[in-house]
Amino acid sequence: MKVTVFGIGYVGLVQGTCLAEAGHDVMCVDVDANRVEKLKQGIIPIYEPGLEPMVKDNHQSGRLNFTTDAAEGVAHGDIQFIAVGTPPDEDGSADLKYVLTVARSIAEHMDGHKIIINKSTVPVGTADKVKAAVQEVLDTRVGAHSVRDNLTFDVVSNPEFLKEGAAVNDCMRPDRVVIGTDSKAAEEALRELYAPFNRNHDKIIVMDVRSAELTKYAANCMLATKISFMNEIANLAERLGADIEAVRQGIGSDPRIGYHFIYPGVGYGGSCFPKDVQALIRTADGIDFNAEILKAVESRNYDQKTTLFRKIQAHYNGDLNGKTFAVWGLSFKPNTDDMREAPSRVLMEALWEAGAKVQAFDPEAMEETQRIYGDRDDLMLCGTKESALKGADALVIVTEWQAFRAPDFDLLKQQLAEPLVFDGRNLYEPGRMKKKGFTYYSVGRQVV
Ligand code: UDX
Repeated sequence: MKVTVFGIGYVGLVQGTCLAEAGHDVMCVDVDANRVEKLKQGIIPIYEPGLEPMVKDNHQSGRLNFTTDAAEGVAHGDIQFIAVGTPPDEDGSADLKYVLTVARSIAEHMDGHKIIINKSTVPVGTADKVKAAVQEVLDTRVGAHSVRDNLTFDVVSNPEFLKEGAAVNDCMRPDRVVIGTDSKAAEEALRELYAPFNRNHDKIIVMDVRSAELTKYAANCMLATKISFMNEIANLAERLGADIEAVRQGIGSDPRIGYHFIYPGVGYGGSCFPKDVQALIRTADGIDFNAEILKAVESRNYDQKTTLFRKIQAHYNGDLNGKTFAVWGLSFKPNTDDMREAPSRVLMEALWEAGAKVQAFDPEAMEETQRIYGDRDDLMLCGTKESALKGADALVIVTEWQAFRAPDFDLLKQQLAEPLVFDGRNLYEPGRMKKKGFTYYSVGRQVV
């Protein structure tokens, strides 16, 4: 099928590439000429395992193309995905300006029936706004009457559920494909589009548009709730002399609870959870409903991002001036270079504020860190995890990259001023750390 994807950000690029990989003929459109040029050369703007070779392959085979020309994009596909950003505006609501600009642009150039699909995470009711924006432009087009009857369209909600770092797999082997539409024809077209991804058992769930829009928020908010809940219990465990890791396994074994997303840590970050929880709170506010649980989820997370810093501060009786900390892990989670809402930022900024220095290492996010913070005296970006330790007063672990799970503990001891580790992800066994002679702080467990 011929498909156009507007927006070559994270969602659009993964979606477009996977559709091409499945055999569809895909045109990706973006206003950023530099990005488009690089993609044509096979250089992708994000770090995502497995994506780059797939982009190159499909581009070379002619199934995946890139352009800045909206008219070309609209002419290409019977199916038009909108996958542009919906950044939070000042009050945390999702800003729809990019989505509506694309909708208008589709209306401007279309010359036959189009299925317009919202792939971006958009508040409930956005499909109606897209519909109105498209119709408004169509109504003003020159000679509308003669061509107007062919200028029909459907607006469908088809939210994405990709995880950064596992996006290709999530897209090629989805748990579910949610399609929100009241049009049988659009439903049929999307069933055909997703047929290559719908093997073994039917993963397609069709519903009305508003329910599909809400499904996306509900999924992310539920996951964020699990995390904040677990972080709350971890705080209790710490204070009650219990071990959250034992508690986690104790509750995860109940299939109604399950083992996923109950890992305590330094709070959730990334481009989705913080933004979506906030946006749903704003949506609720807008209809005079007090989303109490979501507000608590958000405030627990805000607080959780400062826990490591508070532990460090308490250890040094509040005096961090002149201290140096090795920080391992800067991206908001492993296998990505994404620093958006990353807990590492809250930690480093608090350390700097307190007069401390940071020697940081991350397997992928060094460039991104440099881009965000530039050159500063109190930040040294280190080429290896070992070099970050040199002369530091203590090690602080913020992100659970695989490479941090089994370090050379003897070297750690040698390099650090004292054997002291603050671990925000519970990577090590407290008993073992104690035996090795470390003072070890973790989350929801006792200090050893
Ligand atoms: C998330 C959703 O998982 C995905 O379905 C949606 O489409 C976009 O948002 P992503 O933001 O890529 O994906 O990351 P995810 O792996 O879900 O992790 C989110 C955050 O939660 C990370 O900061 C992670 O460290 C944290 N987390 C996750 C925990 O603290 N504990 C857990 O048990 C799980």
